[in-house]
Amino acid sequence: METAAPLVASGLTKRFGSRTAVQDLSLTVEEGKVYGFLGPNGAGKTTTIRMMLGLIRPSSGSVRIFGHDVRREFKAAIRQVGALVEGPAFYPFLTAHANLKLFGVLSGGVPTSRIDEVLELVGLRARAGQRVDGFSQGMRQRLGIALALLEAPRLLLLDEPTNGLDPQGTREVRELLRRIRDEGRTTVFVSSHLLAEMERICDRVAVLTQGRMLREGSLDDLLGHEADVVEIEVSAADDERARSLLRERFGAEPRLVRRGHLELRKGRFGPADVNGVLVGEGIAVEGLGLRRRTLEQVFVELTGETSDIQ
Ligand SMILES: Nc1ncnc2c1ncn2[C@@H]1O[C@H](COP(=O)(O)OP(=O)(O)OP(=O)(O)O)[C@@H](O)[C@H]1O
Ligand SMILES: [Mg+2]
Repeated sequence: METAAPLVASGLTKRFGSRTAVQDLSLTVEEGKVYGFLGPNGAGKTTTIRMMLGLIRPSSGSVRIFGHDVRREFKAAIRQVGALVEGPAFYPFLTAHANLKLFGVLSGGVPTSRIDEVLELVGLRARAGQRVDGFSQGMRQRLGIALALLEAPRLLLLDEPTNGLDPQGTREVRELLRRIRDEGRTTVFVSSHLLAEMERICDRVAVLTQGRMLREGSLDDLLGHEADVVEIEVSAADDERARSLLRERFGAEPRLVRRGHLELRKGRFGPADVNGVLVGEGIAVEGLGLRRRTLEQVFVELTGETSDIQ
């Protein structure tokens, strides 16, 4: 039992009336990893996390946490879990420290030293004595993560922890998740619609759309080990011509990322060949590079759509 995986979902399905929010979802989260649960709005992320936490009942399928079935052995399953689902609710007129103390008391008491420790971990130690109603959204979100960490869970479930955060707040949450991972005692399952962000912190990801799992794997599995995307910059006036030239010459479909900026999957040709073709046709190449595919590109390839997620 002790060696059971932190989180296993098997055939998880949720229907709301005639709408299927989550369809036959199975995944396993391994110990000590950061697992990204990715998908656009309405994909079924929150619904899945609610089922994982036993907050709603699956229409079918099951969830096991460290080997314990969430419905049949709820207490044993949930004992080692910390969670943040949607915006955390705090008492606005109490300080950060007092809020954590209160929640700690409600769950049976947590030593002050642990409260200080989690406030330190989320970077709120200096704000511990301030009232929560004066907190920014990012600070509240981090306090929510502190609360989820309070009882030193072995599994942390976070639903869109960067929701509503500015780039600075997003960076802070990213660094926090890295710190938690590097500490090595907590496994993290984190949902997000921010592909580029998740690419930076996750070991493994699942990509969900319309309640179905599109793809699951390690980042290396999904993105490949090699840098195989040629990035090309030309002037905006030349981009369409460059695109059709490259299509013609290499038989591959270049993607216009934004005006003047093209990307092309490398084949037998590389950046030097691309440069040769464009310059040969009188198109000045202003930038040229080679990099690994991004999760965004994988998403576009899988769905055939431009994602509304970045
Ligand atoms: N209580 C409910 N009753 C009816 N339909 C629901 C309910 N909860 C969720 N849904 C539907 O289930 C689908 C998935 O919703 P869910 O909130 O899980 O998506 P999400 O991936 O978390 O999206 P977001 O990125 O917007 O948070 C949506 O179509 C939603 O309308
Ligand atoms: Mg959601």
